[in-house]
This record gives sequence, structure tokens and C-alpha cells, in this order.
Amino acid sequence: MGASEIEIRRAAERLTNCRSCAVMTGAGVSAESGVPTFRDAQTGLYANVDPMKLASVEGFREDPAMVWRWYMARFGRARVVEPNPGHFALARLAARIERFTLITQNVDDLHERAGCPDVLHLHGSIARYFCTDCGEDHTLTDDDRAAPEPPACAHCGGMIRPGVVWFGEALPRDIFGAAERACRTAEVMLVAGTSGVVFPAADLPFVARSAGAYLIDVNPERTLISDRADLFLEGPSGEVLPRVLGAMD
Ligand code: OAD
Repeated sequence: MGASEIEIRRAAERLTNCRSCAVMTGAGVSAESGVPTFRDAQTGLYANVDPMKLASVEGFREDPAMVWRWYMARFGRARVVEPNPGHFALARLAARIERFTLITQNVDDLHERAGCPDVLHLHGSIARYFCTDCGEDHTLTDDDRAAPEPPACAHCGGMIRPGVVWFGEALPRDIFGAAERACRTAEVMLVAGTSGVVFPAADLPFVARSAGAYLIDVNPERTLISDRADLFLEGPSGEVLPRVLGAMD
């Protein structure tokens, strides 16, 4: 069915009149750029692979070659895709609101490439690599990207891994702290493209709502977040967000 004009206008009004806004995005926001969402990404060669094996320390230890190839495929894809109208709409929103914080669970850089500064990446970046043993940063070469297994650290010989947060790992404390503060003080919290099942990120919309924020959720499907939002805008973020921004003009 999709979000109605009245719902779009209601969101636009809230956003026009607020001085502080926190936005949290998930994989759905990059879907229209051609980055498969995490749960859709288990296709093709990886159709029968448990997501925990692709995104956990245990999975990496068990089969480093498979995890490496999966991330290299995701990394290659993230480099060639372009921001979509949803990313651009959020960058326009950032420029309009006095205190604006964009929090993302995505490991791509599409928000930055759309012109959104100071993005808080809760789950790290697919462009960063470091040594499992000594923690030293590693710059990926073309050979590394084509390699069948993780390259070795130039300093200690340890295995290089992607700089993303895996299941069971702690989120970067300073980044999560900044995200929490922004949610606690936001007048409006806008969530887009997340299933809301991965914690602690999934708590942030409720942190905001408990502190009095008006909660808006954008998603083609209902989630635990949309069920508790003040306003649910049904539809793909690449269509809904430009409509909201259009109604603010
Ligand atoms: P998911 O893959 O769990 O969920 C994607 C959400 O996007 C779903 O709710 C879809 O309905 C929605 N969606 C699909 N297409 C959309 C579109 N065009 N516009 C808007 N929404 C759309 O992704 P996340 O919620 O981001 O963590 O998953 C959270 C975390 O789980 C990821 O950051 C990743 C994964 O494990 C780590 O890697 C640590």
C-alpha cells in the first residue's frame, strides 16, 4: 500500500519543527543501491551458509578462507555501488536540522558519499582491515582482494580480518556512547531500513522514545520497531525519504 500523503506530511511537519534529530539506518537503506541486505545476502554460493559463520570470530577461525571470500565479494560490491535517493534525502535532512546525528549499522560508506558528514558507524567499516593477533591496521592490496584466504600481517604474520563488528563482539564504546547520547536528547528519531533484531543497536530507537522522542520508522515491512513507532511510513527508503524531504520544502 505504501505511506499515505497525510503520513508523509505528518513526518515532514515533525522534522521541520524539530531542533534535534537522530537517524538510525540499517541494510535496507543500501538495498536500492544494489547492496543485498544481510539476510538477503545468503544467496548463490552462500545459500546454505549460516550467517553466524560469516560474521563471528568462531566462524572466521573455523573457515577463514570462506569468510574472507565472502567479505571480499561484499567489499567489491560496496565499492562500485552508488548512493541512492534515500541516502541523498538524509544528507539534505542533515543540512536542515541544528543538531543532527546519523547512526548507521551499515559497513559501507554510502551516507558519506551522499554528503552526510560525521556518520557514527556502529558496526565498523568494510574498508578497514586489521590483524587478528597484533591489531595493526592493514591496507588491502589488489592481491589481497583476489586471494583465496586472508593475507598475513606484515608485522607478526597473524591473520588479517575485516574491521566490522561481528556477532558476540562489543561495539566501539565511544561511537555507541555518542549514538546513545544523541538518541536520549533527540526530539525526533527517524529509523530506516533495519529489521531491529540485532542488539544493542536495536535498542536505540526505544532509548529515544523513552526519553520523549517522536519515533518514525521507514520500512517496506513491519518490524518490532514499526510496531512501537509513533509513525510508520511503509515503503522503500529510496522512495519514502525523498517524499518526506519534498514535503518539507
Ligand atoms: P537486515 O538485513 O536484518 O534487515 C534489513 C531491513 O531492511 C528489513 O527490515 C527489510 O524489510 C528492510 N528493507 C529491505 N529493503 C528496503 C528498502 N528498499 N528500504 C527500506 N528498508 C528496506 O539488516 P539490519 O537491520 O541492518 O551486523 O541488520 C542489522 C545488523 O545485522 C547488520 O548491521 C549486520 C547484521 O548482522 C553486523 O554485521 C554486526
